[in-house]
Amino acid sequence: MPIDNFDTVITIDGPAASGKSTLAIRLAEQLGYLFFDTGVVYRAVTLAVLDKNVPVRDEMACTHLAEEVRIDVQPASQDDGRANDIMIDGEDKTWEIRQPYVEANVSDVAAYPGVRLALLDKQRKIGKRGRVVMVGRDIGTVVVPEAGLKIYLDASVEERARRRYKEQLAQGEQVVFEDVLAALRKRDEIDSNREVAPLRPAEDAIILNSDDKSIEEMQQILFELVEEKGIKAS
Ligand code: CDP
Repeated sequence: MPIDNFDTVITIDGPAASGKSTLAIRLAEQLGYLFFDTGVVYRAVTLAVLDKNVPVRDEMACTHLAEEVRIDVQPASQDDGRANDIMIDGEDKTWEIRQPYVEANVSDVAAYPGVRLALLDKQRKIGKRGRVVMVGRDIGTVVVPEAGLKIYLDASVEERARRRYKEQLAQGEQVVFEDVLAALRKRDEIDSNREVAPLRPAEDAIILNSDDKSIEEMQQILFELVEEKGIKAS
């Protein structure tokens, strides 16, 4: 019988740019756990949809692509700020999946039930191995509801837009703050109101707000929660 190690899974869900990934990377490093940003699988499918000129409104075609596409998350091969290499059908697409045109469409693609079903198993398999910090929208509610510690990380939409704007400028994108804010609002709206696995805290999640806190402060709070739950480093 395969052994599940869900008690050493830590889930961090929350809206876009709430600081989930930065915190999760630090926590994973601190614990010697794997970091898994589940948003990349939705971004990867969306990029594949756009690259193949599949219309985003074509639910069947998007679902079919989600079932067919090969997505691999590998250790970072380059020291250019990436947490992992994201391979789509064998090609390195680490930075392409972060582009604003992917971001503008990802929530529509991620709202399709068939797309979510196709990607559920891939995510749960990684959770089963344990010793992983998983980041997303529905990890504590749907993907790994058995997780040992569930966090819901929030922040105001203005603060999140400021963070995302800075990130995109740093990546050399030509962006306008108001557009970033509007795009985040739209994505929040779609993610929170979709029928399948909407963005919401799990009943037993601990809700944290990162508005007036530094990353270091947040990391400390998180680490204390990990200790309280008796979750041990590798
Ligand atoms: O980094 P950011 O929070 O902006 O986005 P992300 O975590 O990479 O997720 C991109 C999009 O994928 C989200 O806006 C959701 O529409 C979708 N997503 C999801 O539906 N479920 C997840 N577990 C993770 C992401």
